[in-house]
Amino acid sequence: MKITIINGSPRKNGNTQIMAEEFARGARESGHTVDLINLAEKQIAGCKGCQYCFAHDGVCSQEDDMADILANLDQADMAVFASPIYCNDVTAQLKAAIDRLYARMQKGFHFSQTALLLDAASPGTFDAAIVMYKGMAAYVKWEDKGILAISGMTTKGSMKDSPDLAKAYELGKAL
Ligand SMILES: Cc1cc2nc3c(=O)[nH]c(=O)nc-3n(C[C@H](O)[C@H](O)[C@H](O)COP(=O)(O)O)c2cc1C
Repeated sequence: MKITIINGSPRKNGNTQIMAEEFARGARESGHTVDLINLAEKQIAGCKGCQYCFAHDGVCSQEDDMADILANLDQADMAVFASPIYCNDVTAQLKAAIDRLYARMQKGFHFSQTALLLDAASPGTFDAAIVMYKGMAAYVKWEDKGILAISGMTTKGSMKDSPDLAKAYELGKAL
């Protein structure tokens, strides 16, 4: 299947990207096609709630990088949301992209499976992000294929030394 990972970290080559790349390596070894989209390289504004998309076949009134991401997701069978925890939630960058999926709420999503990859300095800081993801998945009837939360990320590159990094590879490989 075709898998698209959306990495919400604004830090290029950071812990979340390392985790996402390990997930992708495992999924590719199992025969899947994987695109990794790093939002650090994208400009995505927040949804304005104008509902232009509802009357225009899913086209958003705002012209930014979300159009290409939506076009990519229209070919995907699975979407993976990856994010560092910022102040007990996903980053604003990832939340903006998730809110902009509103453009497919009426039209429908091509992908039906999802997963969530999170990382943070401390354990016990993942709850809000997981509740948001589970609520969204339940609302639009996505099938959750796994949630991974890795703590101990105190500095850029901590992920490389984490014993939990193997879990990202294994989650991808298991698909
Ligand atoms: C603005 C900001 C807020 C953060 N908030 C939290 C937090 O609430 N809980 C936590 O455990 N770590 C927090 N962190 C640490 C990051 O989640 C952690 O370092 C993560 O691995 C960064 O991922 P990246 O390298 O992909 O950017 C925060 C970091 C930043 C920059």
